[in-house]
Amino acid sequence: MPEYKLVISGSRELKGETHVSGGKNTSLAVIPAALLAEYPCQIENLPDIEDIRVLIRILRRLGAKVDWRAEEQQMQVDPGAVTSNTVPFALSQKMRASYYLMGALLGRYGYARVGYPGGCDLGSRPIDQHLKGFRALGAAIREENGMIVLEGRLRGANINFDMVTVGGTINVMLAAVRAEGDTILTNCAREPHIVDTANFLNRIGAHIRGAGTDTIRIRGVDKMRGASYTVIPDQIETGTLMIAAAATRGQVTLRGCIPTHMEALTAKLLEMGVLVTSEDDLIHVQLRQGHRAIRLSTQEYPGFPTDLQQPMSALLTRAVGTSEVIENIFDARFKHLDEMRKMGAKSVINGKIAYIEGVPELHGAPVYAPDLRGGAALVIAGLMANGVTEIYRPDTIARGYEHLESKLNALGGIIRREPVPNGNNNADGI
Ligand code: EPZ
Repeated sequence: MPEYKLVISGSRELKGETHVSGGKNTSLAVIPAALLAEYPCQIENLPDIEDIRVLIRILRRLGAKVDWRAEEQQMQVDPGAVTSNTVPFALSQKMRASYYLMGALLGRYGYARVGYPGGCDLGSRPIDQHLKGFRALGAAIREENGMIVLEGRLRGANINFDMVTVGGTINVMLAAVRAEGDTILTNCAREPHIVDTANFLNRIGAHIRGAGTDTIRIRGVDKMRGASYTVIPDQIETGTLMIAAAATRGQVTLRGCIPTHMEALTAKLLEMGVLVTSEDDLIHVQLRQGHRAIRLSTQEYPGFPTDLQQPMSALLTRAVGTSEVIENIFDARFKHLDEMRKMGAKSVINGKIAYIEGVPELHGAPVYAPDLRGGAALVIAGLMANGVTEIYRPDTIARGYEHLESKLNALGGIIRREPVPNGNNNADGI
């Protein structure tokens, strides 16, 4: 794909109905988990996003047969032909979730050689808790020029995470499901996609209890069958679209979502004066008049998700009053505010707290997407602003949102892609 920018016309009110795609972060865990099965697995409701296309390249590099039908959101993974346990650095660096190949390959074959993961630059993102869990299960781990080598026959263990980690919880679970004996994981993360991954693993023969709580119990098995599985809808895409509806003072219905996964965001939107109602797999969001500033503190699930902190800050730029946003999970997740300031937003950052003073309006400007969710936040700001906004380096948005531009355009947005002449891919346009 040649370099491009997004050109967004502002002052748009989003109206109508759209469908939420399958979950990015759940898919990035369930697909590697399929390597633990002896037979092919069929996975449904997968979003057509860049991170999944990278994951397919990784699985094919290992020798797995992957049949991917993006338009049907369907994938068949046959691990039977896996001939390699090495994930090259160049591929592992392209995304954060490449770390799941450690747990899956170690759990299935007793050996994995994986490059350090990449992913959005949100500050330091170590994987010490993943490695702590693998060592506790009996793996010997060494580093060889940027590659992590893990090997050993795994035996069940009791593992307490030093801090709540989504990736660590899932990764150690992947390694433990075929370990000999029982494993108890404590101080676990409780995100919906941890439950989804555990449900998939149980579907292919694992014995996992307690996913979704802070204690997960696993009885190791030595054989795992193939199965079909449908991943849950994307909690963060749902939240991003809810925020976009409110931020453009629109009226939007989201289909195919799980309202109970959205409770922390819904509570904050209601506190601001946004109308949010839900039934079955529908959420309806509407905002007509002004909205109030709030205090927002990101927490592990079921608290307010860190991944919605950035999209939410777009809505807060026009709230009445000054909002306080506390980012507790990552130590550098405010870069999008520098870009929003170019659009007339007012914010001050003091350590892990950002103070966002509401302004009557934003104006369009050339900005660049600092990371996946920051990019989505700037798309929302562009829809809100008066005039035209250009977002440079928007490819990071396609890593995690399926057809975000076309979904927003179907709701009344005007977003188009324009090639960037001779690689001038910066917000100064020079
Ligand atoms: C997952 O990242 C998600 N990524 C992130 O989504 C999400 O923001 C995050 O969980 C929190 O919900 C995927 O699922 C692919 P963590 P992960 O381990 O696993 C520290 C998005 O936009 N930590 O829960 O990296 C870590 O530095 C992305 O979709 C350690 O110190 O998150 C962070 O400060 C962004 N040592 C905190 O814990 C470890 O071994 C939470 O990280 C692991 C984590």
